[in-house]
Amino acid sequence: MASVFLYLLSLLLFPLFSSAQTYRNITLGTSLSTNDRNPYWASPSGEFSFGFYPIQDVFMLAIWYEKIAVESIIWTANGGNTVESGSKIELTSDGVLSLSTPNGTQIWKVESMDSIGATSAAMLDTGNFVLSSDESAIKWASFDIPTDTIVPTQILNPLGKLSARLTQNDYSQGRFELILQGDGNLVLYQKARPMGDNYDGYWDTATTNGSQLIFNQSGYIYLSLGSSNTSRISLTTTTQVSPTQFYHRATLDFDGVLRHYTYPKNSTGGRWRQSWSVSEYVPSNICTAFGGSVLGSGVCGFNSYCKLDDNQRPQCNCPPGYTYLDSNNTFNGCKQDFLPQTCGTSDGFEMREILTTNWPTSDYGRFTSVTEDWCRQTCLDDCFCAAAVLGGGTCWLKKFPLSNGKTDATADKALIKVGKPQLVLNNRNNSCKKDRDNLILPGRFS
Ligand SMILES: *[C@@H]1O[C@H](CO)[C@@H](O)[C@H](O)[C@H]1NC(C)=O
Ligand SMILES: *[C@@H]1O[C@H](CO)[C@@H](O)[C@H](O)[C@H]1NC(C)=O
Ligand SMILES: *[C@@H]1O[C@H](CO)[C@@H](O)[C@H](O)[C@H]1NC(C)=O
Ligand SMILES: *[C@@H]1O[C@H](CO)[C@@H](O)[C@H](O)[C@H]1NC(C)=O
Ligand SMILES: *[C@@H]1O[C@H](CO)[C@@H](O)[C@H](O)[C@H]1NC(C)=O
Ligand SMILES: *[C@@H]1O[C@H](CO)[C@@H](O)[C@H](O)[C@H]1NC(C)=O
Ligand SMILES: *[C@@H]1O[C@H](CO)[C@@H](O)[C@H](O)[C@H]1NC(C)=O
Ligand SMILES: *[C@@H]1O[C@H](CO)[C@@H](O)[C@H](O)[C@H]1NC(C)=O
Repeated sequence: MASVFLYLLSLLLFPLFSSAQTYRNITLGTSLSTNDRNPYWASPSGEFSFGFYPIQDVFMLAIWYEKIAVESIIWTANGGNTVESGSKIELTSDGVLSLSTPNGTQIWKVESMDSIGATSAAMLDTGNFVLSSDESAIKWASFDIPTDTIVPTQILNPLGKLSARLTQNDYSQGRFELILQGDGNLVLYQKARPMGDNYDGYWDTATTNGSQLIFNQSGYIYLSLGSSNTSRISLTTTTQVSPTQFYHRATLDFDGVLRHYTYPKNSTGGRWRQSWSVSEYVPSNICTAFGGSVLGSGVCGFNSYCKLDDNQRPQCNCPPGYTYLDSNNTFNGCKQDFLPQTCGTSDGFEMREILTTNWPTSDYGRFTSVTEDWCRQTCLDDCFCAAAVLGGGTCWLKKFPLSNGKTDATADKALIKVGKPQLVLNNRNNSCKKDRDNLILPGRFS
């Protein structure tokens, strides 16, 4: 009974393992539908597939590591947006790779970069999906337009970039970007959403002659300098595990960290954990990486603060009196759980402590040689003050929204202004009755 259960479980966990058909050459007029039994084209080795990857009830047109059940997607089409059941991908008779919805509307396509049309497509063993012409010249390659991931043998050329996805499970465009700039510097940027301008960089190689970011076939990642291809800046340590025994990928994760991951190919070996493990990453501390950049919220959303967890991943916390804006996405910031203060009175408000925390880019006032008591009272009385931070006898007043929050050993403590709980109750009863919208308008109570 138990083994039947385990068998069923393994079917659920590894839906993509079954009888991979491999295609060396996808000819014109060939198509895949999400309704096909195996809606994908596998590479000759069976390690990579291109096609429809199921995500709950919908599908992602993607390239993935066929033999890995979690976090196996290395590239997405269609801006990382999912398509509904019944959608189709076709290499049309005129050499265009076209994605269409069940009613036949084309929503995404790729075609040869020049006038010579593609005559075939292929999922290669490297993870590169290509359109080729009769002369076997590559006319389009997924490796040339990476999404958030690169794999061994992939190269990022000048102006090439990786874009982080929005959340762990939402592959649409996120808040961070890695670019190999024309000026030779490799830079991580925070982006404005939803329009996508770049804010300040938060990590870079400080180079002027970086020419290619190379993930070589031995599993090493480096920035090649100049044109010689011998001088380089290594992003990986000198002891890499071999790509013949481990799957490799480098992903600009949704939290703004570029991580190099490995996964043991051999499931029977037993000495290695059967999951992706991080071998190195930049920047070394994403919580503190945003330094003095005034635009954007940092890795965590506004009004929250960032702390590295035991796995060195950022964890976003709400200060006392605040809760997550979206309980399903802790990176989306925090909101006040109390009514705003009326200017001219501090009745019903108090200052609560969080040790070693700071919002370095929300300052609007600075007072040196003052006591903590003075600092508390000044913030409490000032309706513009959201929080105060004390460090070395200096009191900093902080305004909304609190941004780039992080645990910071150089700050003595943060004092956050919150409404006392009973005030919220009083006001709900007195002035707002059932009209909850009024609750968040400033100055409507007391
Ligand atoms: C793919 O098939 C087409 C038609 O059969 C042929 O012309 C082309 O050379 C093949 N390409 C490769 C890379 O095998
Ligand atoms: C086809 O379906 C899409 C949604 O999948 C819809 O937006 C579009 O209007 C439909 N087009 C036609 C011609 O029915
Ligand atoms: C990959 O890079 C490493 C480190 O720079 C080097 O030792 C190794 O020989 C390279 N492998 C290949 C196949 O070029
Ligand atoms: C790249 O630039 C650095 C300084 O900016 C210089 O030291 C180095 O020699 C250059 N390397 C190449 C290969 O041009
Ligand atoms: C540098 O070396 C890599 C890997 O050996 C190679 O793929 C790439 O084309 C080389 N780049 C240049 C500019 O020679
Ligand atoms: C996989 O594990 C088996 C048993 O431990 C071993 O015989 C085999 O050589 C391993 N293969 C690779 C590629 O490591
Ligand atoms: C959180 O996710 C669950 C399940 O996906 C959903 O039912 C719920 O509505 C979501 N909550 C919010 C606040 O979006
Ligand atoms: C507010 O209303 C609730 C129920 O409507 C009641 O239980 C509570 O005592 C009231 N609080 C105050 C302070 O009047």
